[in-house]
Amino acid sequence: MTSRLALPRPDDLHAHLRRGPAMPAYARREEASFGRALVMPNTLPPIASAPALEAYRREIAAAAPGLEPLMAFKLVPGMGREAVLGCAAAGAVAGKYYPAGSTTNAADGPRCPEEVAGELDAMEEAGLVLSIHPEDPAAPVLEREAAFLPTVELILGRWPRLRVVLEHLSTRAALDYLLAGPPRLGASLTAHHLVSSLDELLGEALDPHLFCKPVLKPAADRDALRDAAFRGAAPGRLFFGSDSAPHPRQAKEGRRAASGVYAAPSALCALAGLFEEAGALGALGAFVAGSGAAFYGLPPPSGSLELAREEWTVPEELDGSVPFLAGRRLPWRLASRR
Ligand code: NCD
Ligand code: ZN
Repeated sequence: MTSRLALPRPDDLHAHLRRGPAMPAYARREEASFGRALVMPNTLPPIASAPALEAYRREIAAAAPGLEPLMAFKLVPGMGREAVLGCAAAGAVAGKYYPAGSTTNAADGPRCPEEVAGELDAMEEAGLVLSIHPEDPAAPVLEREAAFLPTVELILGRWPRLRVVLEHLSTRAALDYLLAGPPRLGASLTAHHLVSSLDELLGEALDPHLFCKPVLKPAADRDALRDAAFRGAAPGRLFFGSDSAPHPRQAKEGRRAASGVYAAPSALCALAGLFEEAGALGALGAFVAGSGAAFYGLPPPSGSLELAREEWTVPEELDGSVPFLAGRRLPWRLASRR
């Protein structure tokens, strides 16, 4: 008999579902693995007002009725405190801080926290979580995450009640910062930053489908992240967020590859293989279903997801994008959800 692994229905606390004609397929792919997804607001135009947030939530719910979208808005200088409070009233759980120029569709982000001080005051008042893309785009590419930590320190000091999430940790430096931080500081980890490293991105042949922000780091950093995930470090503060960020195949294989890994189709199965190999399968449930909900103050996940220990090959293309680990054999597959 095939062995099975039952998990509480996982939450993805960082997902890009995009907007327009491609969104329904991305949303349904997300729904296959996850019960709830914190949906990132860096669409064009951005989700930066209550009406936009409500319309986007309706579109996602219509496309994937089994997925509960958790909504976030984008912090844009000049949006104003009323817009922030409006998003809170519309049910947003987080506001996203993309430093200007740090990643895909981030040209309109703040250049420093001061540019959105009034908005951060309003977020603190409303009890919203500040989700940060913690990279300083002015620093050399592999140093951008560490270079942004002083800005995180400034934000934590100036807004003492704000809950803050450092998204997609990629370095030991940022992990150490998180582990030494207060209970109101959390962080997400992706599957690709745990499974892969800079060498897979460009050591042998350049793989644009592994190109994302923050860029994958050398194995020593990856191993520090793995260790933290395997031992269930910082429970209720360190949790899974896929940063699944699909781009059409042409946008990844053109002269200038867009950044973002389409992780949703394979992330959970890849993680199950990784945790199993390390003898840490027992820590997977809390990592993907529990820790993140606890940080965000959400009810525990309802329902369950079963994985079967059955090899499959990740397709070369899904939904017009090349998924994470395309062409690779994975030991666990999605079986059933309830
Ligand atoms: C994301 C995207 O494509 O929207 N890209 C990425 O490289 N991760 C944005 C982000 O989360 O940085
Ligand atoms: Zn992202």
